[in-house]
Amino acid sequence: MNIHIIGGGNLGTSVAIGIAKFSSKHHVTLTRRNADKIKHLEALSITVSANNTHRIQEADIIILTVKPYQVELILSEILPVINNKIIASAVSGLSIEMLQDKIGAANQAIRIMPNVAAQFGASATCVSYLEQHTEQGQKMVSLFKDLGTAPVIDEKLMDAATVLAASGTAFALRYIRASMQAGIEIGFDWQTALEISAQTVKGAAQMLLEEQTHPEQLIDRVTTPKGCTIAGLNDMERHGFSASLISGIKTSLRQIQE
Ligand SMILES: NC(=O)c1ccc[n+]([C@@H]2O[C@H](COP(=O)([O-])OP(=O)(O)OC[C@H]3O[C@@H](n4cnc5c(N)ncnc54)[C@H](OP(=O)(O)O)[C@@H]3O)[C@@H](O)[C@H]2O)c1
Repeated sequence: MNIHIIGGGNLGTSVAIGIAKFSSKHHVTLTRRNADKIKHLEALSITVSANNTHRIQEADIIILTVKPYQVELILSEILPVINNKIIASAVSGLSIEMLQDKIGAANQAIRIMPNVAAQFGASATCVSYLEQHTEQGQKMVSLFKDLGTAPVIDEKLMDAATVLAASGTAFALRYIRASMQAGIEIGFDWQTALEISAQTVKGAAQMLLEEQTHPEQLIDRVTTPKGCTIAGLNDMERHGFSASLISGIKTSLRQIQE
């Protein structure tokens, strides 16, 4: 497929690189006004352009990764020259209904919520689509499964998906930073502390994803009765570890919905 991504910033670039590296059967075009900033991506066989309509007629899928206030202008440029295209939007707050209304019945609106780990084939990309666009929605699922996981969710949960998957990247990085700081305090240099902390989180996540189990079952495997792990865990909980994470996630969701 030809995939045309409009908005070569943080997210658009990550998705473009992810497709080029992990779904290389597809060809990617990536656009932004300052195209010089993404010129280096040509080395990955990504076509780079400052022109949003550059060979857009050949696109099978158009992906929007721009800020909400940039959507109107972009649609006014591309809609006159396209017909019968899947337009997948990662733009936060733009509902399928609103987008479908803007792009007309000739094109199909799909909503996606990837995160910047798409670049490493490790995004959790939530996908929503209308029932009548199941075929097109499933095309997006199959594309994003090459870049990580791609659960289909009820659109009502898209804000929650933004918090859990996109903001969640920052939350997970903050956990790693805290673990690393503790690592320095107990004797490691920062590089070694970072390597151990990041790989440990990756390993824990991999166990969960591969074994499809509940975290407590795996925690049980590493907590010896009277041991150091359960003592540390209980102390963290006394200091509000889970409570503060849950509270932070709910605050992010409130903020996004304001
Ligand atoms: N970052 C994330 O982790 C993440 C995750 C999920 C969803 N999102 C959503 O994805 C969208 C993009 O976020 P972002 O963080 O990637 O923002 P960003 O880094 O600011 O990227 C937006 C890009 O759009 C380009 N752009 C602006 N006007 C344009 C136009 N007329 N034609 C073509 N390109 C244009 C900008 O480049 P120029 O100025 O050079 O044109 C910029 O590089 C937002 O709606 C955000 O809510 C982001």
